[in-house]
Amino acid sequence: MSYLLSCCLYVWLILLPVRTSALNEEVEVLVILPKNNSYIFSISRVKPAIEYARMKLSGELYPGLNFTVHYENSDCGNEALFNLVNRSCVKKPDLILGPVCEYAAAQVVRMASHWNIPVISAGALATGFSLKEKEYSHLTRTAPSYLKMAETFVTLFDHFNWKSVLLILDDDKEERNCYFTIEGVHSSLQDYNVDVIHFDSKTYRVDTDDIIKQIYNTEVVIMCAAADIVRDIMLAAHRRRLTNGSYVFFNIELFNSSAYGNGSWSRGDKNDAEAKLAYASLNVVTLLRTVKPEFETFSMEVKKSMQKSGIRAENADINVFVEGFHDALLLYALALHEAMKNGINKRDGLQITHRMWNRTFEGIAGQVSIDENGDRNGDFTVMSMTDTQKGTYEAVLNYFGINQSLQMMPQFNSDHFTLRERPRAQIPHQEDKSSGGLGVSAVTGIIVGALLGTALLLAFYFFRKNYRITIERRTQREECGIGNHRQLREDSIRSNFSAA
Ligand SMILES: *[C@@H]1O[C@H](CO)[C@@H](O)[C@H](O)[C@H]1NC(C)=O
Ligand SMILES: *[C@@H]1O[C@H](CO)[C@@H](O)[C@H](O)[C@H]1NC(C)=O
Ligand SMILES: *[C@@H]1O[C@H](CO)[C@@H](O)[C@H](O)[C@H]1NC(C)=O
Ligand SMILES: *[C@@H]1O[C@H](CO)[C@@H](O)[C@H](O)[C@H]1NC(C)=O
Ligand SMILES: *[C@@H]1O[C@H](CO)[C@@H](O)[C@H](O)[C@H]1NC(C)=O
Ligand SMILES: *[C@@H]1O[C@H](CO)[C@@H](O)[C@H](O)[C@H]1NC(C)=O
Ligand SMILES: *[C@@H]1O[C@H](CO)[C@@H](O)[C@H](O)[C@H]1NC(C)=O
Ligand SMILES: *[C@@H]1O[C@H](CO)[C@@H](O)[C@H](O)[C@H]1NC(C)=O
Repeated sequence: MSYLLSCCLYVWLILLPVRTSALNEEVEVLVILPKNNSYIFSISRVKPAIEYARMKLSGELYPGLNFTVHYENSDCGNEALFNLVNRSCVKKPDLILGPVCEYAAAQVVRMASHWNIPVISAGALATGFSLKEKEYSHLTRTAPSYLKMAETFVTLFDHFNWKSVLLILDDDKEERNCYFTIEGVHSSLQDYNVDVIHFDSKTYRVDTDDIIKQIYNTEVVIMCAAADIVRDIMLAAHRRRLTNGSYVFFNIELFNSSAYGNGSWSRGDKNDAEAKLAYASLNVVTLLRTVKPEFETFSMEVKKSMQKSGIRAENADINVFVEGFHDALLLYALALHEAMKNGINKRDGLQITHRMWNRTFEGIAGQVSIDENGDRNGDFTVMSMTDTQKGTYEAVLNYFGINQSLQMMPQFNSDHFTLRERPRAQIPHQEDKSSGGLGVSAVTGIIVGALLGTALLLAFYFFRKNYRITIERRTQREECGIGNHRQLREDSIRSNFSAA
């Protein structure tokens, strides 16, 4: 009897360390991204990065964790939710990676939060997703949101003592990247004098004269629009001598590096010389990218896999989404491992989500710091033309989100960002603004344009803050057609704006 007892004890003692240290778990991962390769975060681009992370994790870091990854198409809309629901009928995932597109993400994150499944995305960058109390409670973002980007501007405004800003955005009413980009800036610059111009360049032939009229009233111009429209605006501004140092111009271009920097002003047309002069006053805000030794291996392997799946070499860039989804799986494994050590099960999605927040870890391209709200702190860089002869660009200053500080580069020239005095009398009074506007029956004020979800979203902020805005009214036909269609999709994230 006592022999049996001690034998049992012995066996138990042998098993004990195994039971506590080898944390084995099967993890079902569902990746929801677009199949269409015209998106720079398509499945073919991101999959190699996720596979790279998966190999690393189950190889050396956490051999007990066995990730099974499924890839589903998100398209950029409702398909994402349908595929999540379909897939969950077969097997509910333990983790969802993606979607990136705002409208697709809104639905998926809401559903996942309800099902207590963590969602990590290198997208869903809109301001609305920052509200994590309710429907977006399970969302963690591994790429810096538009709100984080906007901190760069807040810091610059503070540092250079700018007071007023004109925001110009080209709202495509599809994915609406510019809309959400500018929304972040708008909600961050609440203490400043803000005007907004928005239009849809697909349906409105951009009349630069209308835009120039608004620039006179401001100090800083921040644009988010297609490269050709930015060029038209800059050319017009230059012809009206607004590039004389009394105004500061910014273009926000976070993801497409071929749209800014060296050669961005050049089109090989008769305006090139003038455009080069104009672009001397155009600064670009973009992501600050870092690399480290391991990144080279990662980059090579991922690019190779991308090309195997049919993406041409020149399009096989490692962008912030590719990095972000790699880091997402890493972060989840960190949190899950930690949770399991504390006796928490993978099914406790909220616990695991919170363990991903408020921490810094080593990502594939450098340190990744996730704030207390589960959003990545971002680093951004401002590029300016430093050689006006050649028309070449360099980074002149960096913004670090983690300590909210600016770093001036050797090329930085403070004159470039210091507003030159203009005679007081020439600054038009506030009242003059209402007569300006966009030629096409411009509406100054609020709500009038609110037939469209677009206007509603913007108007909400303006209403609260009593800002003046210039809304270009769309054609009647469009309001009926696209308007209705859009509104349905917008409902999906609007609830969250009106709740703010
Ligand atoms: C992919 O997206 C592009 C641009 O949105 C579109 O023109 C194209 O038709 C799409 N391709 C497929 C196969 O859906
Ligand atoms: C991991 O999971 C897959 C699918 O469930 C299974 O086929 C495989 O044997 C597992 N691997 C390990 C090491 O447990
Ligand atoms: C979801 O599943 C249903 C039934 O199995 C199928 O008919 C439908 O095409 C699927 N939808 C998607 C988006 O895959
Ligand atoms: C990036 O910008 C270039 C130049 O403006 C443009 O030709 C290209 O289509 C853009 N790429 C994407 C993915 O938007
Ligand atoms: C975040 O972490 C810091 C220290 O790492 C801690 O002092 C702080 O309380 C944490 N915040 C939350 C909300 O957990
Ligand atoms: C632009 O060209 C200059 C001079 O050739 C070079 O120093 C700089 O690194 C280039 N900038 C970019 C962003 O490629
Ligand atoms: C802020 O953080 C960055 C990056 O970690 C670091 O290089 C910089 O020195 C810090 N600046 C201040 C003022 O602490
Ligand atoms: C620059 O041009 C604007 C608009 O014409 C004018 O109001 C301002 O005084 C000029 N600034 C300087 C420094 O000449």
